[in-house]
Amino acid sequence: MKAIVVTDQAAGAAAMKLVERPEPQASINDVVVRVHASGFVPTELTWPSTWTDRVGRARTPAIPGHELAGVVTALGYGTTGLSVGQRVFGLADWYRDGTLAEYLAIEARNLAPLPGDVDFTVGASLPISGLTAWQGLFDHGRLRAGQSVLAHGAAGAVGTMVTQLARSAGAYVIGTGRAGDRQKALDFGAHEFVDLDDDTLEDVGRVDLVFDVIGGDIGKRSAGLIRAGGTLVSVVGPVEARPADGLAIDFVVESDRAQLGEIVERVRDGRLRTNIGTVAPLDDAVAALNPTARRSGKTIIRVRP
Ligand SMILES: NC(=O)c1ccc[n+]([C@@H]2O[C@H](COP(=O)([O-])OP(=O)(O)OC[C@H]3O[C@@H](n4cnc5c(N)ncnc54)[C@H](OP(=O)(O)O)[C@@H]3O)[C@@H](O)[C@H]2O)c1
Repeated sequence: MKAIVVTDQAAGAAAMKLVERPEPQASINDVVVRVHASGFVPTELTWPSTWTDRVGRARTPAIPGHELAGVVTALGYGTTGLSVGQRVFGLADWYRDGTLAEYLAIEARNLAPLPGDVDFTVGASLPISGLTAWQGLFDHGRLRAGQSVLAHGAAGAVGTMVTQLARSAGAYVIGTGRAGDRQKALDFGAHEFVDLDDDTLEDVGRVDLVFDVIGGDIGKRSAGLIRAGGTLVSVVGPVEARPADGLAIDFVVESDRAQLGEIVERVRDGRLRTNIGTVAPLDDAVAALNPTARRSGKTIIRVRP
């Protein structure tokens, strides 16, 4: 099968190659999926899990990509809940070969059914950004209607999901980002926007929840904006400053079939829009995943035309 591989951590995305690899086999509780569309998070080439397995052994050449939509072609021993021929989408294990390939072996529990009226390209754009936003807002941030949310990077993949889900849950949403992101953040439902280069972040006053996808100095300053009893949720590593009278949590997104189902239902009924920028075939994936200019929206690789 055709697959994208990485072999050199120092070279990062520049060393991605399209090669021939053996098709994967389904282990216990796995399915094999014929991948139709694949999502990729640019930072994943910096994650240790791209380069080693769970006990620290090198696993290069590694196939990156952790989001997929496709069709089940085989079941492993003991696998239940999915069937051959079923359309699925989901989040692949960080430590196993990923989704930038024609076939993928994946635990069935990491997948959810993809309704027939949802395009594979859309399905592959949802798992990481949708689940991260859902879990950060509702599981970890315990967001309730009437609260306020500061959504950093509100025009990005995670940020557009955070903005829409928070707003539809009845929150007041302040988006942040670069000057050029303002209109996009407002279009995705932010009530107001803070340009982090030219506005003063502290002018937003106090909020109930900060959703941080940027970290660094922005993350540290955000701790001071949390209202008593509020929560700083980070997906960019351990928080460096904690709210004086609130909670701080950093987490890594997990697959969850029920939540994937909730997210895709919202896409179907129009409550949630995806943020897809570029769609490219697998043959052009190396160039598409190495953009020479800033790109807006997620890049999705259409593995099967
Ligand atoms: N822990 C987890 O489970 C988890 C899950 C998903 C994502 N993440 C992490 O979350 C981060 C965001 O992911 P994403 O897919 O949403 O990325 P993305 O689509 O690139 O969105 C990030 C947004 O924030 C903006 N931004 C970044 N730094 C900024 C700064 N200093 N000032 C103003 N705007 C800034 C970006 O603008 P530019 O494009 O101009 O930089 C972009 O619009 C990544 O680091 C990713 O690894 C973690």
